[in-house]
Amino acid sequence: MKFFIDTANLEQIKEAQDLGVLDGVTTNPSLMAKEGITGRNNILKHYVDICNIVDGDVSAEVIATDFEGMIKEGEELADLHEQIVVKIPMIKDGVKAIKYFADRDIRTNCTLVFSAGQALLAAKAGATYVSPFIGRLDDISTDGLNLIAEIRLIYDNYGFETQILAASVRHTMHVLECAKIGSDVMTGPLSSIEGLLKHPLTDIGLEKFLADYKKGN
Ligand code: E4P
Repeated sequence: MKFFIDTANLEQIKEAQDLGVLDGVTTNPSLMAKEGITGRNNILKHYVDICNIVDGDVSAEVIATDFEGMIKEGEELADLHEQIVVKIPMIKDGVKAIKYFADRDIRTNCTLVFSAGQALLAAKAGATYVSPFIGRLDDISTDGLNLIAEIRLIYDNYGFETQILAASVRHTMHVLECAKIGSDVMTGPLSSIEGLLKHPLTDIGLEKFLADYKKGN
């Protein structure tokens, strides 16, 4: 399973990249705003900065919601850097835009997906990635992980190549469960990846190994 980090914070992206297990980055307009990145030129520059840190795909979201607007913005984003994947919302014009980009070998990430039907449509249109938001479903007492399982079943039934990118991952158990189900990618905060490291028996065991070494040296 690929690990993406869901942030526009350059320090966190560097930290995850340094760990050696990072495969990409996802951003969205809210994450850019959180870092205080505003204005078109600053936003475009920030995407390039991210691409220069990470070895992997970087999702950059369009703001337009009409077909022509999404095409214009998406082409501009794709031209920025070869690692850019154009992030398109799951709306009617978005589906048309995904198809347009697929026909031109421009990679897309279909975002704001909350149902298996939407994921089927994204795959039919030729999205490179589909992003079901599992945390936001959990927030409204609907099982987000179950959606990942449903999409996995549908995509496997027909051999769709669209990669399932479990998004809105909130914690380490989401990461583990997504891996068990067979999600292709997960995107979450750095803490959700670092949580995989932790086990008290590792810490206790290491402490004892070092103490025993010191006794004999
Ligand atoms: C995915 O690409 C989105 O940026 C993200 O995962 C949304 O997560 P949130 O629900 O924590 O905002």
